[in-house]
Amino acid sequence: MTTTSIHGMWSSRLAFVLAATGSAVGLGNIWRFPYTAGEYGGGAFVIVYILCVAAIGIPIMMAEIMLGRRGRQSPINTMRTLAEREGASPLWQLLGWMGILSGFLILSFYSVIAGWTLAYVMRAAGGLFTGIDAAGSEAVFSALVGDAERLLAWHTIFMVITVIVVARGVAGGLEKAVRVLMPALFLLLIIMVLYAAQAGDFASGAAYLFQPDFRELRDNAGEAILSAMGQAFFSLSLGMGAIMIYGSYLNSQDSIMQNTIIIAVMDTLVAVLAGLAIFPIVFANGLEPGSGPGLIFQTLPIAFGQMPLGQFFGSVFFVLLVFAAWTSAISLLEPLVAWLVENRGFSRVRAAILGGVAVWLLGIACLLSLNEWSGFKVFGMGILDLFDYVTANVLLPLGGVLIAVFAGWVLSRSASAAELRIASEGLYQVWLVLIRFIAPLAVILVFAHAIGIF
Ligand code: PHE
Repeated sequence: MTTTSIHGMWSSRLAFVLAATGSAVGLGNIWRFPYTAGEYGGGAFVIVYILCVAAIGIPIMMAEIMLGRRGRQSPINTMRTLAEREGASPLWQLLGWMGILSGFLILSFYSVIAGWTLAYVMRAAGGLFTGIDAAGSEAVFSALVGDAERLLAWHTIFMVITVIVVARGVAGGLEKAVRVLMPALFLLLIIMVLYAAQAGDFASGAAYLFQPDFRELRDNAGEAILSAMGQAFFSLSLGMGAIMIYGSYLNSQDSIMQNTIIIAVMDTLVAVLAGLAIFPIVFANGLEPGSGPGLIFQTLPIAFGQMPLGQFFGSVFFVLLVFAAWTSAISLLEPLVAWLVENRGFSRVRAAILGGVAVWLLGIACLLSLNEWSGFKVFGMGILDLFDYVTANVLLPLGGVLIAVFAGWVLSRSASAAELRIASEGLYQVWLVLIRFIAPLAVILVFAHAIGIF
């Protein structure tokens, strides 16, 4: 059995935790979590979300890391090798292909939103937010989103920096960068929460997030629960092979369970902190929590515009958000690049450029759907919203179920026990029950409920 990957290895356990946390913590926590929670009424959504992280997300993340580490290749080849070894169907490699498709679709719109973040660094630094009110902030946002050329420029810059890091290999520059950036992001979020606590309507914001009112779920429970589950997959980077490939660079000695729990807790904490920074400002300024993907871009500038040193804090905040998005974006591209290197014999640089250009092209369709093509809708959604919805709510959970089934039923118990090496036999049994029954059934029931089967 191979004990290292041809693509390189993390230099330490800490490097893995930082990289995987870097993948998990991103726009999903700070941009997507608050606006999705806002669309489904807050507290009840948050409870369902946390349940999904604990009962579905954590066991599946352990499974992904475990499979990646046993296969030590791109998700496609890892699945092919492991299936072969267990005497299972070669069709399991389709799971890897599905992951490539998901990563491709996600990165195409992710890069556009990351572009908004880049644009906001400039706006914050230039003092555009000083003294801005809710209407002014909405106007700044609409002006950006309506301007296709500007969006294209920022989307291009973001894809270029993503390709550069992937081309250089993950261990080199990235490891060092996340070491400083993740703690800095954390600190700044706490400052934002403290600001929101004294300047915003903190009581309403906190109540909105933490006081579940399950009546809100009644009208639209299927959709809300599906979205909470989809958000858990998206935020934890699960179901498309990003965590699998990061697992393939992890040392055989390191504990999978412990690392997984750290990553999941950090990810959830960042999402909750983002909610606590944003909703008090939403309520204090009479904004709509359910206003959609523009939420943080319309609320945070108001806060930065009023706080002392807001120009400084605002720029730093959006810079850190760019970094959070960046460390996630590289993990979205990595599985495809590893596969191109393995199967096409490309150099890493060539593979990264090729993958990046393909994603960049698709991203243009996403950004045009916000302006020039805004009349074009599929299932009532523009392309960007459609990619966002379908990947998080359908493709990632589906990938997750297949990973769970493979890890729980196809892979022999002796193999999973040997790879996870959980000291307590009882805890291993808990994982086995979660991965065999609870996680797959929960996802399928949520799907069934959302499409109205019961
Ligand atoms: N988890 C990332 C975020 O929250 C997005 C992501 C999804 C990254 C899937 C990799 C794979 O921003």
